[in-house]
Amino acid sequence: MALTIHVPPHPFISNLLALCRDENTPTPIFRSAVADLGRWLTYECVREWLPTVEVGVRTPLQIIAPAKVINTSVPFVIVPILRAGLALLDGALPLLPGAAVCHLGFVRNEETLEAHCYLDRLPNQFSSETQILVLDPMLATGGTMLAAIDRLVEAGANPEQIRIVTVICAPPGLQKLGLKYPKLIIYTAMIDEQLDDRGYIVPGLGDAGDRAFGTH
Ligand code: URA
Repeated sequence: MALTIHVPPHPFISNLLALCRDENTPTPIFRSAVADLGRWLTYECVREWLPTVEVGVRTPLQIIAPAKVINTSVPFVIVPILRAGLALLDGALPLLPGAAVCHLGFVRNEETLEAHCYLDRLPNQFSSETQILVLDPMLATGGTMLAAIDRLVEAGANPEQIRIVTVICAPPGLQKLGLKYPKLIIYTAMIDEQLDDRGYIVPGLGDAGDRAFGTH
């Protein structure tokens, strides 16, 4: 496994993760904590990744100041994996308001733990310069993420164009993903140690979709 995994050491991130883990955190606070994690982890993820261009801007003093601005001519796509990726999207999208949002919906078969795709809004063909950010809070067995990356590659994406933001990862998912796509880069708040026999991350935070949307 040669994945690159970043766990940004920041008190905002660790504090929000603690809030998400706490079983007593009510749904609205959980959802907003995941959104805030989406914001801060995306902020870290794009730090060296977003292309910039050098320009000059005229200030009120009628002087041209050199400036470095985001190169918005490079297409940026955010791929939230439904449902729980929507909570991360709430925080990520305001940072990248010009991004296209291409939803992918997966539901996990609780017996086989296999991912089934029920919604696919990817373009037929990604351009070779498109930057693609995939959002899913929990990388557990890796089945859903692997299926999502397979779809992106099928739509013409090179794994080096893709970055992933999650809240918690576990070694089985990281291994599965790393074996097939070693060039992927992941930003996460934490790597937990293991999964339980239902495929939940331990200690984890429970079912991220249920907790974000108040379902059971
Ligand atoms: N999906 C979740 O929401 N939680 C887990 O622990 C694993 C997968």
